[in-house]
Amino acid sequence: MRVATLGGDGIGPEVVREAVAVLERVASIYGLPLELHALPWGADHYLATGVTVPADGFAMLAREFDAVLTGALGDPRIPDNRHARDILLGMRAELDLYVNYRPIRLLDARLCPLRGRGPADVDFVVFRENTEGLYVNAGGRLRPGTEDEVAIQEEINTWKGVHRIVRHAFEFARARGRRRVVMSDKSNALTHGHALWQRVFREVAADYPDIEARHLYVDALAYFLVTDPAQFDVVVTNNLFGDIVTDVGAALQGGLGMAASGNLHPGRTSMFEPVHGSAPPLAGTNAANPIGAVLSAALLLESLGATEAAAAVERAVATVVAAGQVTRDIGGTLGTREAGAAIVDALSEL
Ligand code: NAD
Ligand code: IPM
Ligand code: MN
Repeated sequence: MRVATLGGDGIGPEVVREAVAVLERVASIYGLPLELHALPWGADHYLATGVTVPADGFAMLAREFDAVLTGALGDPRIPDNRHARDILLGMRAELDLYVNYRPIRLLDARLCPLRGRGPADVDFVVFRENTEGLYVNAGGRLRPGTEDEVAIQEEINTWKGVHRIVRHAFEFARARGRRRVVMSDKSNALTHGHALWQRVFREVAADYPDIEARHLYVDALAYFLVTDPAQFDVVVTNNLFGDIVTDVGAALQGGLGMAASGNLHPGRTSMFEPVHGSAPPLAGTNAANPIGAVLSAALLLESLGATEAAAAVERAVATVVAAGQVTRDIGGTLGTREAGAAIVDALSEL
């Protein structure tokens, strides 16, 4: 079980340090053959060396590691964030991590910003297409910097790309006993690319008569996520919409500090990261919530088949949340290190 860790920028290294401590503890409890290896990729490394990702970097990850745990990338000293694009979007594209798996699970009613909603109302999964759409970054600028500037940003949707993520969403629903899959697009306005999503969704849904398949335009999805999240089991959508709605999902769980994700290519080296960014104002203040990173480590364990260890980490997180042994963003008084230590202690006691 070889895992590369990549703290990255801002609060990334702080939350990854706690997630690593949790991984080490759970590996010793369950006797997992875990080997961790830290990579220096990030803003400091780029500013010092001019290198974002070494020439063989992605091939090395695929060859030498079973999974990658990432903190966050983004640094104000690099205004165009080119290193973040190279490293983060690079891993998604070069390792072909086409499934962005973002579970949205509320652990305690106190954390939900919606009045009167509890854990039973917020428990669904978003599958975000992770390799194409607007993130392909196709396009260009004509006459940049003038009043005649024209900027073109093309959205790429391929049958293979849409098909594999929609298929994954239905397979997940069936395997986990989830009964409803919602596909969300903007096909009333984007009549080329999103017509393809409509076609593929209808075709794939026909293979799953046991699962209710429903379509929502993304504006309506945004509305229902806030007014009635209990109706959702599995949501599948494109790259940009998935980015946006999973920050709404993070809010439903108590904030960005709570949200976990996996960037997956089933059967290959996959990458796990909290949904949040590098939060520059919090960096170095021991204030960041480590739970998003710790729950991402649980998703990593689960993907490598260590299901009992993954469940133990989730139980330990639920324990500290119930006890209020958490950071300030979710109503506690602890720092990042102390909140991480509380999870490690809870693991040892389980
Ligand atoms: P952000 O997620 O870093 O922060 C948004 C808000 O959430 C801030 O108020 C922050 O304080 C709070 N927050 C985030 N994580 C938290 C945590 N663990 N605990 C407590 N509070 C937390 O988003 P942003 O400010 O838009 O972006 C900052 C930088 O991070 C940018 O460079 C952006 O591109 C990058 N970014 C990277 C990733 C990634 O690496 N996966 C994701 C999102 C943003
Ligand atoms: C995320 C982030 C990234 C994205 C950024 C940093 C490029 O917001 O992982 O949600 O848009 O995918
Ligand atoms: Mn995002």
